[in-house]
Amino acid sequence: MLTARGIGLIGRSSSGRLPLASRVLVFQTLRYSSKTPFPLSSKEIEEQRRIEKLPKWQQWGHYFKSEKFKKSMTVYYVAGFGAMCIAFYYYMRDRYYEDKQISHVRKKYQADPKSLSEYEYLMLKSIGSDKLRPKEEKKYRIYQMMRKEFRRKHIMDKDIMFEPSPEELDEWYSKQPRISIKKAPVLDEPIDEKSSANKFTNAENPHIVPAEDTTDFYEAKAQAYDDEIKWEERGMFLGKRRRWLMKQLKGDVLEVACGTGRNIPYLYTDRISSITFIDSARNMVEIARKKFKEAYPNFKKAAFAVGKAEDLVKLAGDDSKAIKYDTIVEAFGLCAHEDPVKALKNMASLLKPGGRIVLLEHGRSTWQFVNNHLDFRSEKRMKTWACRWNLEIGELVDEAGLDITYEKRVHLGSTWMLICKRPEDPINSDEKPFINKLMGTEPQSISRG
Ligand SMILES: C[S@@+](CC[C@H](N)C(=O)[O-])C[C@H]1O[C@@H](n2cnc3c(N)ncnc32)[C@H](O)[C@@H]1O
Repeated sequence: MLTARGIGLIGRSSSGRLPLASRVLVFQTLRYSSKTPFPLSSKEIEEQRRIEKLPKWQQWGHYFKSEKFKKSMTVYYVAGFGAMCIAFYYYMRDRYYEDKQISHVRKKYQADPKSLSEYEYLMLKSIGSDKLRPKEEKKYRIYQMMRKEFRRKHIMDKDIMFEPSPEELDEWYSKQPRISIKKAPVLDEPIDEKSSANKFTNAENPHIVPAEDTTDFYEAKAQAYDDEIKWEERGMFLGKRRRWLMKQLKGDVLEVACGTGRNIPYLYTDRISSITFIDSARNMVEIARKKFKEAYPNFKKAAFAVGKAEDLVKLAGDDSKAIKYDTIVEAFGLCAHEDPVKALKNMASLLKPGGRIVLLEHGRSTWQFVNNHLDFRSEKRMKTWACRWNLEIGELVDEAGLDITYEKRVHLGSTWMLICKRPEDPINSDEKPFINKLMGTEPQSISRG
């Protein structure tokens, strides 16, 4: 077919203009060779050329504003709606199977709690009022991944139940690609057995530097500590978190690893009966003492002690005469302890019945890219701040055998705000799940007997 340019080459007059007959021919040829009934006008061609010269992103902008795009949107809407329907169908199908399985497990539980497998127990616990412990939560997440694959494979078998054993889960998990830690957590082992410490990720993470006694570091750092840390803390708006921490205090209070007393400005003395500050570095305690006296000169029930969190039980006296506390609080201390699990266990044994341990700590994040950074800089952090900032705090609490009644994570999940209790203590009315508060019922615990 002739093109406009081809025609332009024939029959041009000396003045450069086409004779009328040729112009009619060009017009007709353009009209028939064009996809639209009328060819582009010279203005439109100019506009097109102008757009072609623009950077790619501006060309896309013009495209999105054009009529052509608006017309094609119908196709995109229909395709998007179709994709959403498919996703919705898969989601609802998954919910349907899960519901079926839940009622199957509930029946099993009513008949004989001991008959529940580990997965079934975790499933019931997760939908009930009990909070899964950090280790349990991780394991349950792995079971859920396995369940999704199981459902894909048994797409047509409506009645088949997902009933994996821990061994099957282990085998499946170890075969998954791109998982650096191949062992799924082991739940049923006694928590305080030394061997269990080697089975979870803090021990398996090669980027966590070995624990050490950081007392000498903080003795030397004490004078400069506040000046050096304040900008990091201001940047993270940590004041707000410290205020939350101190709002939780009541009765007789012990602050472990008090440092230079950075929590003191947020203390509500009218809510507490007494407060004891302890830290392994004497120089840090001295600064805290001065700060406290300046801030609350009339509050006389304050004590200051030098000692390690790992020796708390010894320091508090033997069991019959031991001093006990309503609230034990610690901020950014677990990262600096030689044995954070022992420190937490000690705190638990110094609690009065119904007492709480309130923690504000930094550790592993919920985001992998943050964890990569924490791991990468872990040695540097240890050198500059004597702090192991990539510890999985939930695991430490779990290993210490404590229950978590409140958990909030901020700063991309790397700052942990936790309230913990001993398993034998009941939960308070304000800690009950919303549904129990609403119905005035007691939360039911799931137990395999
Ligand atoms: C990062 S500073 C935190 C200080 C303070 N809690 C705050 O929020 O600013 C860690 C503190 O833990 C103290 N510490 C380290 N190991 C300890 C231990 N085993 N027992 C008690 N305190 C310890 C250090 O002396 C230091 O004051």
